[in-house]
Amino acid sequence: MEEPSRKQQTLQDLKKLVLSKASIVYILSDEEDRVETLLKELSATFQPGPKLFIWNPFYGLTGEEETIENSKAPFDALDRVIQRTEQAFYLFEGIHSLMDGDPLLTRKMKDVHRALRNRYATLFIVAPVLVVPEELRRDMVIYELPMPDDSEVERILNSVISGTPHAAKLTESLTPDLKEHMVKAALGLSLDQVARAFRSALIGRTTLDASVIDGVIEEKGQLIRKSGILTLITNRPTLDEIGGLENLKDWLRKRSGVLSKEGKTFGLQLPKGVLITGVSGCGKSLCAKVFASFWQVPLLHLDMARLYDGTMGEPEKALQIALQTAETVAPSVLWIDEIEAGISVQSQKAGGGSQSRVFASFLTWMQEKKNFVFIAATANVIELLPPEVLRKGRFDQIFFVTLPNAQERKSILSIHLKRNGADLSNINLNMLIKVTEGFNGAEIEQAVYGAMVDAFNDGRPLTEHDIIIAVGNIIPLSTTMKEEIGRMERWAYNRAILASKN
Ligand SMILES: Nc1ncnc2c1ncn2[C@@H]1O[C@H](COP(=O)(O)OP(=O)(O)OP(=O)(O)O)[C@@H](O)[C@H]1O
Ligand SMILES: [Mg+2]
Repeated sequence: MEEPSRKQQTLQDLKKLVLSKASIVYILSDEEDRVETLLKELSATFQPGPKLFIWNPFYGLTGEEETIENSKAPFDALDRVIQRTEQAFYLFEGIHSLMDGDPLLTRKMKDVHRALRNRYATLFIVAPVLVVPEELRRDMVIYELPMPDDSEVERILNSVISGTPHAAKLTESLTPDLKEHMVKAALGLSLDQVARAFRSALIGRTTLDASVIDGVIEEKGQLIRKSGILTLITNRPTLDEIGGLENLKDWLRKRSGVLSKEGKTFGLQLPKGVLITGVSGCGKSLCAKVFASFWQVPLLHLDMARLYDGTMGEPEKALQIALQTAETVAPSVLWIDEIEAGISVQSQKAGGGSQSRVFASFLTWMQEKKNFVFIAATANVIELLPPEVLRKGRFDQIFFVTLPNAQERKSILSIHLKRNGADLSNINLNMLIKVTEGFNGAEIEQAVYGAMVDAFNDGRPLTEHDIIIAVGNIIPLSTTMKEEIGRMERWAYNRAILASKN
């Protein structure tokens, strides 16, 4: 049997509540339009369908065929609800802010509960935040409206496209694959936001290609910024900007289909996340970011240092908000750079306590999260991490990156040379591999850049000699950190897999 869509599931949930004679249902959502439509559809599933009345303070209780007299003031409206006897749904919009701190209105709500609990009439409240006085908690059911699902988002995409002047050409260039990605990119937004995201992404376009997805993702930036410690990174490196590290790349390539419909039907489990550790400047952060471009999902950066520095209040609370936000924009990649950073700061401060609680709640969330939020974490001082972080089954894989070998240096060199617009046919890469032995990726990048500056100042094209000179001016980390690197490699030997193929 096919799984019900999320919308059908929502209708079923609400129907159950009505059938069980729930008197007051508090729907948490900022989408009043959507809730109105849902209740209309819900009513249509009954025979005969209950009438739907919508209340707001300016119009009072308004139904399709009648407006109930004398129902603008909230007290009057609730009285009308208590007095009427027909099967009905009453949807109250905007009453939550009036209820806050008004004991009389709270009292009236209790009367509504008592009047409705034995009748087929339900009072719905729709509000973006939960404002329920303690004494009403037991009398109402709180229902969190899930965000629109694939099918709803796809419907909006179709309608937005058909409303543009280039509808035919746009539709022609919309491959099924691209369509799926666009829909995925808009998941986690409310219906209004979805429509806005598609409209703004389509502005000025007559055909569609993969670049449209970033436009859709942009709309999520707003949501993400609200959380305080998350940022949306729009500049996501792609797989071909990483030299070497083929094991890690293979791991990722093998998982290209995890988000696809086919993968889901097949029963593929979604990966949870990876931890990347190793030598500085060898591409840990670079790799962490690549997952997002590969799966074409938003890249969120969680600022660990900010989490602990107190500007966002209690770290535990701030983390919870951030993780919830990450889930609402799922599918997404959550990049946590130097995951141990907070620990060192915190242990200097207070010695334990809060940081272990923060980690514990993070790990629990990682285990239980329902939506696809892939964790791409990096760690520099892996010894600082509590052992439970490293336990098997938490992360799908722990990768270790170390100094690039000759082959890898060759591809790192050519990536950075090309990026700087150098003509590769004039440059002897094999010679450069030799002089850059012991260099990490960051140092190779620095050498190429230094050489470019010199060549530019001399007013001639770049040659390998410029690079050799630039290389000579850099003392690689590996000479000063030999022991440290050795220690890391020993640690990694039976705990992690190499990101490189050797
Ligand atoms: N394998 C690589 N291929 C291409 N460029 C690389 C590679 N490794 C490093 N670089 C270059 O070096 C820069 C720094 O790398 P990155 O920030 O990923 O290192 P890191 O391992 O996170 O270092 P740190 O421990 O200092 O945070 C990258 O932005 C990139 O330009
Ligand atoms: Mg880094």
